[in-house]
Amino acid sequence: MATVISFCNQKGGVAKSTSVINIAHCLAKYHSKRVLVIDTDPQHNTTLIYGTMSPFDYPLTFASVIRDEKLSLEPCIYPTKYPKHSEKTKYPTISMIPSNMDMFGLDGSGDPRSSFLALRDKLTEEIHDKFDFILIDCPPNINVALNNALAASDYYIIPVKSEDWFALKGMQQLQAHIHFIRESFNKNLNILGALITMRDNRTNLSESMSTAIASYFREATFQHAIRNNTAINRATSNQRTIFEEDPKSNGAQDYQAVTSELLERVGAQE
Ligand SMILES: Nc1ncnc2c1ncn2[C@@H]1O[C@H](COP(=O)(O)OP(=O)(O)OP(=O)(O)O)[C@@H](O)[C@H]1O
Ligand SMILES: [Mg+2]
Repeated sequence: MATVISFCNQKGGVAKSTSVINIAHCLAKYHSKRVLVIDTDPQHNTTLIYGTMSPFDYPLTFASVIRDEKLSLEPCIYPTKYPKHSEKTKYPTISMIPSNMDMFGLDGSGDPRSSFLALRDKLTEEIHDKFDFILIDCPPNINVALNNALAASDYYIIPVKSEDWFALKGMQQLQAHIHFIRESFNKNLNILGALITMRDNRTNLSESMSTAIASYFREATFQHAIRNNTAINRATSNQRTIFEEDPKSNGAQDYQAVTSELLERVGAQE
């Protein structure tokens, strides 16, 4: 059975996509895990990094999964550019369900099944057997994409930007929504952790925010945080993961530490 993890926060720009992109690559490259990445965000940031073609050229996307009740998941799963031909050490191919602007306009149109359970219904045993991890990149909204992601997940991770005080303030709303999904659709949904991102060890604000996040989430806070690192920004603009951009950078080291902690937290065998 694959472990399904949603990366969610209705706050924008907290490193949801960056975390999915880099943790997925780390799981495959350094831990030989078979990974499926699902991009549910119309901004399609993950699709831009992982895709082998323009996001608009994919005949099927996450929107097709939600929209077309009869469509199974298999034809929506595409190979990504990882592993690259140039990589010396081989590891399992990372797969992806892409997204593009088709996701806009899906909200409010569907019945309860498509609004919440389309993805879960389509994650068959065959799909579960093909992967060790399914990582879902969610949009910065409480909408049909987030609902489908959470209803299909075993766990969720909440990335929190370390200097963003508003991010912590919005947390109660998100937690209340997650509680609703758990009660109504998915009793097995559990928090895997709050992940502090873009931490700047030099500022007092970063320090006090990290303390506030840790006291809010308690033991559900990841021990390892992601430091602010320009190589991560550079990787994004070069449409690469940090492990391709600069495997020795602080960003790469931090995502390796967080991925190892994630494996421990889900109790996965190495
Ligand atoms: N540790 C880091 N250091 C420096 N820059 C970072 C770091 N993590 C993410 N970024 C940058 O912050 C920006 C926002 O990250 P990202 O797109 O992953 O956030 P998001 O939560 O997915 O946003 P959205 O809600 O819009 O989908 C990107 O430009 C990314 O390159
Ligand atoms: Mg994103």
